[in-house]
Amino acid sequence: MQQAFTPTNPLTLPAWQALQSQRVAMHEYSMQAAFASDPERFERMSISHQGILLDYSKNLVDKTTMQLLLELAAQAGVPSALQAQFRGEPVNTTERRPALHTALRRPLNDPLLLDGKNIMPEVRHVQEQMERLSNLLRKGQWSGFDGQAITDIVNIGIGGSFLGPQLAVEALQPFASDTLRCHFLTNIDSSEFYQLSRRLQPGRTLFIVSSKSFGTLETRKNALAARQWMLAAGCSLQDLSRHFIAVSSNIAKAVEFGIAPENILPMQDWTGGRYSIWSAIGLPLAMTVGMRHFKDMLAGAHAMDMHALQAPLEQNMPVIMALLGIWYINFHGAQSHAVLPYDNYLRYLPDYLQQLDMESNGKQVRHDASPLSYSSGPVIWGNLGTNGQHAYHQLLLQGTRIIPADFIIAARSHNPVADHQQWLYANCLSQTQALMRGKSLQQAENELRAAGLDASEVARLAPHKVVPGNRPSNTLVLSKLDPQRLGALIALYEHKIFIQSVVWGINAFDQWGVELGKELGGNIFPLLQDKQQSATGDSSTLGLIQHFHAAGPLGPKASR
Ligand code: F6P
Repeated sequence: MQQAFTPTNPLTLPAWQALQSQRVAMHEYSMQAAFASDPERFERMSISHQGILLDYSKNLVDKTTMQLLLELAAQAGVPSALQAQFRGEPVNTTERRPALHTALRRPLNDPLLLDGKNIMPEVRHVQEQMERLSNLLRKGQWSGFDGQAITDIVNIGIGGSFLGPQLAVEALQPFASDTLRCHFLTNIDSSEFYQLSRRLQPGRTLFIVSSKSFGTLETRKNALAARQWMLAAGCSLQDLSRHFIAVSSNIAKAVEFGIAPENILPMQDWTGGRYSIWSAIGLPLAMTVGMRHFKDMLAGAHAMDMHALQAPLEQNMPVIMALLGIWYINFHGAQSHAVLPYDNYLRYLPDYLQQLDMESNGKQVRHDASPLSYSSGPVIWGNLGTNGQHAYHQLLLQGTRIIPADFIIAARSHNPVADHQQWLYANCLSQTQALMRGKSLQQAENELRAAGLDASEVARLAPHKVVPGNRPSNTLVLSKLDPQRLGALIALYEHKIFIQSVVWGINAFDQWGVELGKELGGNIFPLLQDKQQSATGDSSTLGLIQHFHAAGPLGPKASR
């Protein structure tokens, strides 16, 4: 019989308690000494799967720590929770629904029963719709109201209906069509629409309104602005269907908005917004790189799914990454986690992972509503290497906080120039090495003496040059950045995040917190529209509303 999904309280687990003692026992642990005494450390502490190598040897863990962390995963029921998620149990307990993004990349002929019904034919049907539309567009067979072929796709969406497509479209640029350009319209700040629309020709532009709920304010407002823009450019009401497609699970609302029913691609309730790049939300990607590459990305993700499900815990990449994160968050007090891609095409990975991780694991109660007395998800931040080395790496190296970091790099560049790739790789490794090794006072003093400084200068400067070292990092090396590897990389992080949520006993698939801002925004908006309306509330908000009115009329545009 299959085991039901049973959420945990980690504080009750023996491994959690043992890890607390282990943390104390390890207070003098030195990674550098561990490397010196164990030449096999890299060999033992790296995993390779699907063209992705995870080196986790530069972490503050010894064999006992790893053993205890793996016991924690087993005691928290990670393997059975993964199975429960994959087979469609309602792991999203507050909304009583499954989180079946994994079904979207499952082989289409492998049935998956949900409430007694095989859902794979629906998945196939949507992929066929995506294929038909993207083929039309890529062959120049989709024309706008003035008869010209569409050349520009604008994805209107926000959150999960934006960040995944943005990441993947950029990451797979080497595979992109030369004739189609993909843009993103997200923010309710009208400057974004203004700046984008100046670069577009209405007759050659196709808007994809991407919104699972079709109720998101920013997306609806931008879709309305786009519609007005098309009409003002001479497109008839009838021809609007040549310029608007929708992706949504709320078909009725999309139709009500005015999207032609044949132009609406469905999304299922069981696809969470931030887990939706695999669904029709991936349409801008399919159009940009073609359905063949989109399917390769699905295949890469599926291979990572099988690894997460089947690899033993000690050889399981997402399990290891999740456990190391827990070790730092819950036993070392780490508050944030840096994501540092050393690949320009992965420039949007930190943004993507911010939503994926922080919206999933930014929770303060367990499934059973009991409050957490331990930390949950960290602040995720980061940006491109090597740029960050000349900005915030100083704090990673000499600041007072422990900030675990993931360094992500492709072994080979799509666009080799001279010796840039060697330098890029060298920089990436130099940072993880500097974090691990640091520089002792003795080393700093010796260097200064060797440079000819006198004793008082050596004493004055040396302490400033000390780098503590012993700071943890993972390195992920992709053999190359292609659709399979991208799919596997994203799926790796999805599983890591879910596994952490299982250990913490929290729901990774809801996001009730974000609703409060939406509610309050709805109350404030009428007060900004009409200054005569009487307002009550805190003096800060009231003062800021008055300040808005005092700024005078809303128009006109700045002159150039
Ligand atoms: O702001 C929260 C959120 O609900 C995200 O979870 C979601 O990805 C985003 O808004 C967009 O939602 P939708 O796709 O329904 O427009």
